[in-house]
Amino acid sequence: MKSSVVIEGRTELEVPDPSSYTFQGRFAPFKAPVFYNPKMEFSRDIAVGVLSSFACARGSPIRVCDPLAGVGARGVRYANEVPVVELSVMGDLNAESIPLILSNARRNGLEGKIEVVHEEANLLLSRHSEPGCRFDFIDIDPFGTPMPFVDSSVRALKNGGMLGVTATDTAPLCGVHTNACIRKYSSIPLRNEFCHETGLRILVGSIVRTAAKYDFGAFPLLSYSVDHYFRSYFRLKLGAHLADFAFRSMGYLLSCDSCLWRGVAQFEEPLQTTCTECGSPLRRAGPLWIGDLSDKSFLCRLAEFDFSYMRTNARISKLLSKISGEQGKPPGYYVLDFVSKRLSLSAPSLKGVLEELERLGYTASPTHFHPKGIKTSAPPSVVREVVRGLCTGFRLDDC
Ligand SMILES: C[S@@+](CC[C@H](N)C(=O)[O-])C[C@H]1O[C@@H](n2cnc3c(N)ncnc32)[C@H](O)[C@@H]1O
Ligand SMILES: [Zn+2]
Repeated sequence: MKSSVVIEGRTELEVPDPSSYTFQGRFAPFKAPVFYNPKMEFSRDIAVGVLSSFACARGSPIRVCDPLAGVGARGVRYANEVPVVELSVMGDLNAESIPLILSNARRNGLEGKIEVVHEEANLLLSRHSEPGCRFDFIDIDPFGTPMPFVDSSVRALKNGGMLGVTATDTAPLCGVHTNACIRKYSSIPLRNEFCHETGLRILVGSIVRTAAKYDFGAFPLLSYSVDHYFRSYFRLKLGAHLADFAFRSMGYLLSCDSCLWRGVAQFEEPLQTTCTECGSPLRRAGPLWIGDLSDKSFLCRLAEFDFSYMRTNARISKLLSKISGEQGKPPGYYVLDFVSKRLSLSAPSLKGVLEELERLGYTASPTHFHPKGIKTSAPPSVVREVVRGLCTGFRLDDC
């Protein structure tokens, strides 16, 4: 393999040489003998911060597993950049990955802290399902959906452990391929202007349901949608009552295409079929997670982590600040361009709409899901009038 050396965070990694594996003049990770995507450095940087914050609260040496390791970018970085990691177990089905992971571990002086196996991920995880062998953190970073690896991950996690999952199958989750979403996640997606949030909620809900089968409550610590993927971290706590408690945040998202009204229904509740505002038929998505997608106190702890040594530091700050602002806001968001197009108006500024909604007494914040997205407690009739008002100079409380 033609290789080159990159630095991510504080870690040196030998990776496939980008100029040797190209398609239409650009690096194509799938063409390389071992998978490495430089664009995921952002995700790996956040993961190092998340693991450090989680480990800090756990207060004891931790064992992590990266069973779909590629060049070992995640597992090697965890061992190198998170001091309390005492062991990082990495695996990959691709035989060519193994010498590269070992050499990356050696390159960073981590020989005593790692184990590398050429093994199918579910087999590796299942071998660690016995008490005493389990992990504090498992990172599932596959091609496409993480769902085939979630059962064995839950069984291989210690009580109180953390599970991180990536989903790159955003098309099914966002409702482009409904049947694939139903097959992989047992959930109906919704293709509309806030489909990225719905997709992330379906992913989170599916992990919660899988964990509940083993009497684990799964609680999302941090979830986000960026670029071509969704990523979510969960703390898993053992106890049937905790699994029941997590299930209370499962339900359905309801959406009206006519007036843009959205609502949620609890899992066991009968489903409303017509819109509260205009009486049109509602579309539904779910079952999915209807609670907060991240945990407020975990976000505060994560904000204390020093990301400044990482290349993606500025982008991480922006993302975490938007996610913090979204806490406690209802599911779904309004896309300003979409609302104004419906009104045949040009879009007013995001800042202006947020300020006006708050002045009227509603909660309002931007959302990391969309640069023109607004999360608010205001009903769609108010959002419409605010947009109209800012474009025409008319204020809702003038009348
Ligand atoms: C998206 S890549 C992982 C990228 C890596 N985590 C990183 O951050 O660079 C997925 C990896 O999983 C491996 N893989 C796919 N299916 C597998 C399976 N069932 N068991 C183990 N490894 C598998 C592939 O060979 C590939 O290296
Ligand atoms: Zn309606």
